[in-house]
This record gives sequence, C-alpha cells and structure tokens, in this order.
Amino acid sequence: MKLTSLEEIETFLSPPHSIAAQLASRAMANSRLKDAFNINSTFVNGNIDVHSIFTKQVLQQLPIDDTADIMLTRHAIQLISPRKLPLCRLADIAKETVALHLNNIPAVASLDKVVRRITIHVILLGLLRDYVDDSAISTDDLDLVTNGINELWTLSKSSTYRPDLLKEVNERLRCWLPGYGNPLEIIIPAYETLWRVVAIAVSLGHDNRHALPVFGALLKQPTVEQYREFANESFSADAFMQEVLRLYPPTRRISRVVTVSSSSILGKIFPQLFTRKVAIAADVEALQRADVWADSRGEFDPARHHPQRCTEQQRKTLLAFGAGKLTCVAKNWAPQAAAVIVAAILDQIGDEKGFIIEAGRVVGGREGWDGWAIRRTNDLLLT
Ligand code: HEM
Repeated sequence: MKLTSLEEIETFLSPPHSIAAQLASRAMANSRLKDAFNINSTFVNGNIDVHSIFTKQVLQQLPIDDTADIMLTRHAIQLISPRKLPLCRLADIAKETVALHLNNIPAVASLDKVVRRITIHVILLGLLRDYVDDSAISTDDLDLVTNGINELWTLSKSSTYRPDLLKEVNERLRCWLPGYGNPLEIIIPAYETLWRVVAIAVSLGHDNRHALPVFGALLKQPTVEQYREFANESFSADAFMQEVLRLYPPTRRISRVVTVSSSSILGKIFPQLFTRKVAIAADVEALQRADVWADSRGEFDPARHHPQRCTEQQRKTLLAFGAGKLTCVAKNWAPQAAAVIVAAILDQIGDEKGFIIEAGRVVGGREGWDGWAIRRTNDLLLT
C-alpha cells in the first residue's frame, strides 16, 4: 500500500507511537537489508538501544555510552561534525580524489562507475581518515565494493542473497578500516544514497550554464554561506541540490510494517487472531512531484527553490530525508557534502581540461546509466 498525499505521509511518519514501536515497524520493513548485508544498525534493528547509540553518536549531542560499539561511535561522530571535517577540508579531499581517479581512467569510462569510486573514496579519506589504511585502497577494490553493494541491494529486492559476494566486499572493507567490526553498518547509510545524488547532480549540472559558475564559486569558497548564496537570476548550490533531491529522491519510498486489527466483533474478542502485518510505504517521489509544484513539476528547475518563489506548501513536501523522529540525521550535511564532491568533479571536466561527459538518454538511479560516460578529449582527437 502506498501513501501519496502530504497529510497521509506526515501522519504516517510521525505516528503517535513510542520511538520503540516506530523502530520496530521500520526494522520489519527493512529486514531484507539485514539479511543482504548482515548489518544490525538502526535501519534494520528495532532495539531502541541500537537506535539511540547510533543517532546519539551521529549528532554528538549526548554522552557516548562506554559500552557502545566503538566502531560506530567513531565513525558517526566524524561523519557530520563540522569541527572535525569542515567543508573546506572536504573540498580539498574531493579535489585530490577526483584528480586521482580521472588520471586513472582509460579513454572512456562509465560515469556511474567513476562517481561511485570517487564518492566512497572521499568518504573513506574524509569522514574516516583517522582510521583508514589508505595504502590498502586500489581502484579494483573500490569497484568490487561499490558494484558489490549495488548488486547485493538490487538482489535483496527479490530476496536473493549472495553471502559469497558479501564476504568479498567485507574483506576489502576490513582491509581499509582494520579497526572496525562491521564497516558496512556506516558505509551503507553514508555512501549508498550519497553516490546517487552526486551522479545525478553531475549529469544535470555538466552542461548547465548557470550551474557551472555556482559550483565553481562553491569550490573556491567551500562554506555553508557560499553553498546557500543565490547567484543573480539563477540559483544557489543548495537550490540545485534540493531540486535533485526533489525530482530524484534516493529513498523513493519510506516503508514501515504495521499491525492492522480487524474492527469486527470477533476481532475485538480475539485480537490476536484477527490482526495482520501490512507493509505501507510513504511515496516520497510521488509527493515531491505532485500538483503543488505546478505544471512544471516534472522539470528540473533549481530556481524554483528561491525563497521568494517556493511556497510553504511546496517546502513541506520536500521529504527526501523523511520526517518525524526517524528523520535522517545527516539531513543538512549530506546535500552540502554531495555539492562539494559535485563541484570538484565539474571543475575538472571540460574540453580544455582533457575530459568531457557524454550524456545518456535518461538520468539513472542505482542502475540505468547507459550511455553516460567520461571521455578523454585527447583520445577523441586521435580517433
Ligand atoms: C543525500 C543523502 C541521504 C539521503 C537522501 C538520506 C535519506 C534518509 C532517509 C529517508 C532516512 C529516514 C528513513 C526512515 O524514516 O525510515 C534516513 C535515516 C538516516 N540516515 Fe540518511 N540519507 C542520506 C545521507 C546520510 C548520511 C551521509 C548519513 C551518515 C551520517 C546518514 C545517516 C542516517 C541515519 C543514522 C539515519 C537514521 C536516523 C534515525 O533512525 O533516527 N544519511 N536517511
């Protein structure tokens, strides 16, 4: 069952239940990921302790329980602490990482593959830099891990599991992050959505004459203020990322499994016999493309997020990070981080820089990037 209206979705994601009940209902909906990735974090575990440890650490607001999983603690703290990883530092890491991977590509490489390599590498060198053994990172292994995560995720939708592939992925991750018990616990939330946002923003930005100077300015001055700065007659990097997340939310549907009881007399007398579990999904993608965005709702138009143009009703529908108590903890940080990676990529692409982006027919998601490529221009001259 899918919910598409704002009222239904808001009530669904902010139910009048305890946080424990909400976590249990999310854990049931995400159980296939637990099996596919052998992870036990807040996404798939209904235990309130797992949730509070995880999010406490991410938010750095509450004292960390000494008994907490140290891996998750360190990892999550680093993720979104601007003191430890200011945007300008992230930008330097992104620039170096992009240069490294562009230098390594053959005459032509698929865009999604290169973006996956870059994004996970930036996460490793940026968020996890104190713990990573970067000498253990090779391009082949980056591909094995990122392709592996994609495949395991896609297969999980048909309840197909590949423990052999998971083992290979984990072997690489454990070499990169030797101190961590199960690095996938944090790699999944931090990387899996981020790479797709980066890929989509690059594909929509590479030939957009307004976007290029906006991202260029962000790379020159990687601050939150610059990220939000509206260029004359155009848009801010923030507006661009909001529009990417509106039209192409990486989490298209947010699901829960809820218990439904029969309202019949028998159902009231024997509730345990007349209840069933039902999977319900908030269709965020449908909501973000709804009529409230006018006739142009299907078009990519970052300028619509200008404070003077965007109405309160429209803003309320922007739920790519969820709503209520289980909202994404990286809601503010993730679009900024993605924008900085996008800026670093766009900065090194262009005829005069030696690389061009070839466009495919449609923008992809986890898959569907046929035709999208990065090509060396000097090779183009030779052919
Ligand atoms: C653009 C990128 C991202 C998107 C679109 C996204 C989206 C989401 C969504 C929709 C949820 C809520 C799911 C639900 O209600 O069941 C969520 C939760 C969460 N996300 Fe993200 N996320 C992104 C990036 C990240 C990053 C980089 C991190 C790493 C810190 C992260 C950490 C989390 C955590 C810890 C939760 C669980 C929050 C809780 O249970 O209270 N996310 N994310």
